Amino acid sequence: MATRYDVLMRLMLVGDTGVGKTCIICQYAENQFNPIHVTTIGVDFKLKIADIRGKTVKMQIWDTAGQERFEAITKQFYRRAMGVVLVFDICSRSSFESLAKWLLYVKEFSQPETKVIMLGNQCDREAQRQVSIAVAQKFAEENNLRYYETSAKDPGSLDKPFMELCEEILVQEDKASGDLSGHLDMNNSSRSAPIDLSQPAVQRQDSADTQMEKGEGELPARRGWCCGYL
Ligand code: GTP
Repeated sequence: MATRYDVLMRLMLVGDTGVGKTCIICQYAENQFNPIHVTTIGVDFKLKIADIRGKTVKMQIWDTAGQERFEAITKQFYRRAMGVVLVFDICSRSSFESLAKWLLYVKEFSQPETKVIMLGNQCDREAQRQVSIAVAQKFAEENNLRYYETSAKDPGSLDKPFMELCEEILVQEDKASGDLSGHLDMNNSSRSAPIDLSQPAVQRQDSADTQMEKGEGELPARRGWCCGYL
């Protein structure tokens, strides 16, 4: 996807296995819904372009494996994420209870300025609901998170959370008044080189981005991977 963009945003979805992380990303990025659960191996990603606050934003959305055996791999990705999306399944009480663990990982492994939101997914399955909106919202408020209910079957439910998360990140970066080095720097892991977002769209050809773009975000035969681009 050789597309011109102003800002690259690395977003990461975390949550228990089966809550719908892959389906959310596939629906949001490619308007596809897969009714079959194919376990993510390690970390996968997709790309999505959107216009937000007058900027062309390229989202690199990381799909992490929910299974515990992949945690050593997925934990390495928090550090570079600008936004984290905590996902649970409203029909699974245990996936909701696991949010405390996922939030702990965010606090432990991501940057202090990383923005976090919370999704209660599979809201099309209202009859099987195990977590009420009030309970979910209370948890969200206690942890200073914005809460959204989504269905990976309904693309209309996905726009708002992703757009608002990106907006929040942009506002924060704008407030950093000129020092936009932090998350927006793909090459420099020390995050010291400023990037001027007021400049017109440019084609950023940094190595990490190029590496992630190989295959243009399509699923490999065995879904999921991990690599040394961090
Ligand atoms: P891991 O990769 O193992 O971490 O799982 P995941 O969180 O990525 O789950 P995945 O997206 O693969 O979805 C698991 C199952 O739930 C699949 O059978 C999906 O079809 C189903 N599913 C996901 N989202 C929804 C949803 O919003 N509504 C309904 N009805 N089913 C969903």
